[in-house]
Amino acid sequence: MSGNGSGYGQFPGTRPRRLRTTPAMRRLVAENRLHPAELILPVFVREGIDAPVPISAMPGVVQHTRDTLRKAAVEAAEAGVGGIMLFGVPLDEKKDAVGTPGTDPDGILQVAIRDVVSEVGDALVVMSDLCLDEHIEHGHCGVLDSKGRVDNDATLERYAEMARVQADAGVHVVGPSGMMDGQVGVIRGALDAAGHQDVSVLAYTAKYASAFYGPFREAIGSSLKGDRKTYQQDPANQRESLRELALDLAEGADMVMVKPAGPYLDVVAKVAESVDVPVAAYQISGEYAMVEAAAERGWIDRDRAIMETLTGIRRAGAQLILTYWATEVAAQL
Ligand code: PBG
Repeated sequence: MSGNGSGYGQFPGTRPRRLRTTPAMRRLVAENRLHPAELILPVFVREGIDAPVPISAMPGVVQHTRDTLRKAAVEAAEAGVGGIMLFGVPLDEKKDAVGTPGTDPDGILQVAIRDVVSEVGDALVVMSDLCLDEHIEHGHCGVLDSKGRVDNDATLERYAEMARVQADAGVHVVGPSGMMDGQVGVIRGALDAAGHQDVSVLAYTAKYASAFYGPFREAIGSSLKGDRKTYQQDPANQRESLRELALDLAEGADMVMVKPAGPYLDVVAKVAESVDVPVAAYQISGEYAMVEAAAERGWIDRDRAIMETLTGIRRAGAQLILTYWATEVAAQL
C-alpha cells in the first residue's frame, strides 16, 4: 500500500489536514482571494441635506451629502477600491410620473457624477445606477401605462435619455438595473449616437425579485407599493438567467451582473462559466443588514462573516463584487 488514501495500517495514507496546519500554509494554498481592485462601493447621495442621514436598516451606511460623498469616494480610492456605484436621491417634491430628476442635467445623480469624477476620476471607475425608481413618484423602475402597468418601451426612451445625461456628466460605466427588455441595446445605441462610445454598460443581467432589497427602499426613500415581479426574475428560475445573458451580450453589454449575490450563487457560477466578459455580483442591502444585525446581537463574528460571504461570492465565479463593505474590507486586505 502506498499513499493512495487507503493508508498504512492504522494511519491514513492521505491527509488533507496537512495543508491546513498554519496560517501561512492556508494562505499559500488558498484557491481564491479577494482583491480591493475588484470591489465596487455602492453609495447614496441625497439632495437637500446638510449632514449625512443614517439608514436605520443598514447600520454604518448613510445617505451622503455632496460633500461627504466626495470624502467617501476619496477614502475608497485610498483603500484601493476599484469602483464606485452612485445612486441619487432627489427631493421628494421633484419626483414625478416620468422621473424628471433622472434626466435633468442638474439632477442630483448627474451632479454627484460630476463631483466624484472631478474629485477622484482617475483613481476609481465611476459608475451610476441607470433606473427610474429613485426619481419617480411611484417608485417603479419605469413609467406606467394607462392601466398602471410598467410600460417597457416608453421606459426605454427614458433610459436612453438618462444614459446621455449620465455620460455627459462624465460617468465611466452605466448600470441599467430596471430589467426592461431591450434596455442594454437602447442604452448602447443612445451612448454611441451621442459620441459616448467609451462609456461602458454593466448590465444587470440576472436581477431577481428579492425580499432582500428591503433596506435599499429606505436608502432611496422609495414609496413603492406592491412589487417588481412583472419585470424582475422569479427566484425559482436559473435557466432564464442564461436567456437574459444571451440577450444582454447580443445587445452590447461590456460586463454582466447577478443580483442579489448570496442567495443566487448557483446563477453566478452558471453565468461565469458561460461568458468571457467580466462577471459581477451585487451583495445587496438585505445581505448586508442580515450580517450587521446578527453581529450586533453577538450572534455571529462580524468580520469573519463579512469575509466569508465575500469569499463565497468570489468562489462562485464573480470577478467583481459590489458590496457596502468595500472600503472597510479593502483596507484590511
Ligand atoms: C433599482 C435598484 C435596486 C437596487 C439597486 N438598484 C432596488 C430594486 O430593484 O428593487 C437594490 C440594491 C440593494 O438592495 O442593495 N434601481
